Amino acid sequence: MSATQNHSNNVLEIVPVAGRIGAEVRGVRLSADLDATTVSEIRKAWLRHKVIFFRGQHHLDDASQEALTTLFGAKPVAHPTVPVVNGTDYIHELDSREGGRANSWHTDVTFVDAYPRASILRALVIPAYGGDTVWANTVTAYQDLPPALRALADTLWAVHSNEYDYQGRKPNSSSDDLRRFQEVFTSTVYETEHPVVRVHPETGERSLVLGHFVKRLVGVSSHDSAHLFQVLQEHVTRLENTVRWRWAAGDVAVWDNRATQHYAINDYGDQVRVVRRVTVDGDAPVSIDGKRSVTRKKAQRAAAARSESAGVAVAAASA
Ligand SMILES: [Fe+2]
Repeated sequence: MSATQNHSNNVLEIVPVAGRIGAEVRGVRLSADLDATTVSEIRKAWLRHKVIFFRGQHHLDDASQEALTTLFGAKPVAHPTVPVVNGTDYIHELDSREGGRANSWHTDVTFVDAYPRASILRALVIPAYGGDTVWANTVTAYQDLPPALRALADTLWAVHSNEYDYQGRKPNSSSDDLRRFQEVFTSTVYETEHPVVRVHPETGERSLVLGHFVKRLVGVSSHDSAHLFQVLQEHVTRLENTVRWRWAAGDVAVWDNRATQHYAINDYGDQVRVVRRVTVDGDAPVSIDGKRSVTRKKAQRAAAARSESAGVAVAAASA
């Protein structure tokens, strides 16, 4: 545990939750008006622990949640395809009653080139049991690769897209869920090439850029691509690289979206779970040899559908 004084003489405590990722920050009432020392300590904890948690932030509303993005060094950015919550500028809501169950491993919005640097998630309604979220550290995942695999990963690039076989991944999803994601989530279809290994712009650490938006690896067959993806992705999600958070209403989690993946566990049946997210603008990843990610395709759904082969079930999981 580490501790520092903030301007109101409260002690800011940084309490690790798991061995390699995750820490709870205690002793702070989140707002955009925190003093510089407190902001610096929060930013250091965020970069070091990759995801930080704050309990009991019941005073926050949508506007003050949006304002928190300044603590992490950039402006808020709206989701590329999903409309914001009415009356807000940037709030993205995940409501279990509306299909908002992001139960597959991903990094937020990697189907665009400059995907968010951070996500700030606020818990509004949490089930009596279940509905935890798990994060994985993509830096330690990279560091743990055996040298031969690390050398391979260093050279690979991957195509990320928000268009993929939704029913194939979620065979129990409702027709409403499928339609919602076809009409909304993939209203614009993106394909973006990212290096599989990016260099973090603030820490210099190397991390794996994978997750469920990966469509294929560049320059290898689809068969090899699927196998190679699985080998590397399984290194990300090893339990040693993860932290699991048991939510309570009023909690806020902030993760470094450049150094993590996450998974919202869908184990709460018909109970209601509502969380609201604001994302913080990011930079396009840079590979270890200095090349920057590039978006190759950005097409309105109707046009994209005409150009794609018919009969492909499309949509996407949330986030
Ligand atoms: Fe997400």
